[in-house]
Amino acid sequence: MNDTLTSKDVETVKDFLPLKGTDYVEFYVGNAKQAAHYYKTAFGFQSCAYAGPETGVKDRASYVLTQNKLRFVLTTPIHPEGSIADHVYKHGDGVKVLALWVDDATKAWEETTKRGAKSFMEPTIEKDKHGQVVRSGIHTYGDTVHIFVERKDYNGEFLPGYVKWESEYNPSEAGLLYVDHCVGNVGWNEMNKWVAFYEDVMGFKNILSFDDNDISTEYSALMSKVMSNGNGYVKFPINEPAEGKKKSQVEEYLDFYRSQGVQHVAIATKDILKTVSDLKSRGVEFLTVPQSYYDDLLDRVGEIDEDINDLAPLGILVDHDDEGYLLQIFTKPVEDRPTLFYEIIQRKGAKSFGKGNFKALFEALEREQDRRGNL
Ligand code: FE2
Repeated sequence: MNDTLTSKDVETVKDFLPLKGTDYVEFYVGNAKQAAHYYKTAFGFQSCAYAGPETGVKDRASYVLTQNKLRFVLTTPIHPEGSIADHVYKHGDGVKVLALWVDDATKAWEETTKRGAKSFMEPTIEKDKHGQVVRSGIHTYGDTVHIFVERKDYNGEFLPGYVKWESEYNPSEAGLLYVDHCVGNVGWNEMNKWVAFYEDVMGFKNILSFDDNDISTEYSALMSKVMSNGNGYVKFPINEPAEGKKKSQVEEYLDFYRSQGVQHVAIATKDILKTVSDLKSRGVEFLTVPQSYYDDLLDRVGEIDEDINDLAPLGILVDHDDEGYLLQIFTKPVEDRPTLFYEIIQRKGAKSFGKGNFKALFEALEREQDRRGNL
């Protein structure tokens, strides 16, 4: 037996797109000032940085909010012309940018575009008195893009051009820590195309797959494949609708977002009971499951540290895999269009995505879909 890697093996295991994690998530919204207030009040984000007419940016206003390692940017157009206004008109509020933190944004752009990615932004150096940032970007599904951010020579608040945002309104944090995963909804028969994109163009691996037997209720179905980068810091599950008796929740999203796009951002916490109680008291609305979900929960997932009597009133779901268990809950959409929502997740060993909860969860989603007349 030969344990030595050949030079060819070394070449194939070398990550051509090393990622250090999610750098920021940028949303294009109809009213960034109000959206920023919502994310501070409801989710406990902190004021970080601002760019807009007062700082010399004439076509937009952007508010940067942080909470632990999370960084959200809320951008709105100042005029009805231009790509940001077009995006908001078509999609409503939604995720435009899933930005990825890299050591070399030029190389990230070169490696991905040479493998077939469509360029969104050529490598660009931005400078101010705090140093320089290099950014580049590529298109992914729908109108969504990935921007690569190289910030090792920068010590400002966010990016050159942004000023520190000092606010007198500073609600407390809610224990939200970092992006666990971001899920994309793509069209009929498009999942494998985007799986191949993340494999070929970005060097990701398909670590889990769910078909319509795993994810179906009496009425609707979807399929999903989880893509992960080499070090596992960045995970992008990709969903597509599947045939059911009624309309899939993914199809409802596509109808209202008017294209493929980000369905949910999952945010990690290390104390889901505290975080969810806090978020609820701040007005965040969550999907609920029938209390019967908890009747045989321990038979399904084994022993857990939490008391079911604490989980059930909040509607927190539990699932397990070979490595441990996880607790999760999903918000209702955070816009009037039934599009983007959030997941709050606490992992206790489990690296999976809550397959055991899919049925209960999708039945909850369908109740909401039915109330909107879209099932
Ligand atoms: Fe998720």
